[in-house]
Amino acid sequence: MKDNLNIIEKYIHELELNLSPHNLYAPIHYTLNQGGKRIRPQLCLLSANLFGGDTKQAIYPAIAFELLHNFTLIHDDIMDNAPLRRGKETVYKKWNTNIAILSGDTLFAKAYQCLLNYQGKGICSLLSLLTQTAIGICEGQQLDLDFESEEIVTIEQYISMIRLKTAIMLAACLKAGAILSDATEQEQQLIYDFGIKTGLAFQIQDDLLDVYADVNKFGKSTGGDIVENKKTYMSLKAMNLAQNDDLQQLRYYFSSLDFDREEKFYKVKVIYDKYKIKEHACKLINQYYDEAICCLQQINVQASSKQTLLDFIRQLVNRDY
Ligand code: IPE
Ligand code: IPE
Ligand code: MG
Ligand code: MG
Ligand code: MG
Repeated sequence: MKDNLNIIEKYIHELELNLSPHNLYAPIHYTLNQGGKRIRPQLCLLSANLFGGDTKQAIYPAIAFELLHNFTLIHDDIMDNAPLRRGKETVYKKWNTNIAILSGDTLFAKAYQCLLNYQGKGICSLLSLLTQTAIGICEGQQLDLDFESEEIVTIEQYISMIRLKTAIMLAACLKAGAILSDATEQEQQLIYDFGIKTGLAFQIQDDLLDVYADVNKFGKSTGGDIVENKKTYMSLKAMNLAQNDDLQQLRYYFSSLDFDREEKFYKVKVIYDKYKIKEHACKLINQYYDEAICCLQQINVQASSKQTLLDFIRQLVNRDY
């Protein structure tokens, strides 16, 4: 696992980003060298390892997805009014929104540029996968924004939204590893489904951390989802369970953006705690994790490679950063 991470970091380090205009490339360099967890490229390489593919070629789709991911983050921070990412100022704060839009767009194109270096099997399938994933993420992000001002959103709708904005990218990285290894259609589907379940657990954990994490470890400021009226598993479950005054309070705080940030975060958190929302979220995370394992069990490959992937996923859904 460490080897994969080293390969990824080396490739990213060697990307030529000292280019002109400086104000376009400096934010890209800044973002890519900020120490993200590199989950997506690692998933791609782990999947290539699992199916016995050419890991030298796997680096291209792996990095392509990491570039796509970083593009989504730069734009996501504008949409979410987020001040902090990976412990540093977000791009639109450090530079400005126009620069964040453009450097994000450039990263999006660079994802394709990177994938075009690939010389193994299934380039068309990989390009199609990257494209479908990018479109799906935008759909998910739009739903995420729409939900902010919708009064009633079901947990089912929320799950469909996070499936698009987050889970399909994890699933696609795993599927890319299967495609380049010439795995069967059925194996591709199983590893994709494994990625979806993992991705759902991953996003619910992210929502949980947005409320309960230690900012220094998490690298993002907490409370942002509550302040921005995001529909998360936490907020929806709380709305379902809260009664009388508590429900009134939640409706009140989630009806506007004009509250004192700290007060709103604190008041909503007290209600979450009262109804044990954290415990409910952890239960759902574990449920998705178990479903992910079921998908992996159906894939007929070496047990040791499966274990490596399982260990990776376990620490991903249990993370505190
Ligand atoms: C953040 O993803 C966006 C979500 C889908 C929650 P990561 O937590 O993988 O972000 P980095 O790349 O490690 O910073
Ligand atoms: C993640 O949603 C989805 C994408 C970035 C595409 P969030 O808005 O929860 O991600 P963070 O918490 O800002 O990383
Ligand atoms: Mg965000
Ligand atoms: Mg967001
Ligand atoms: Mg989040």
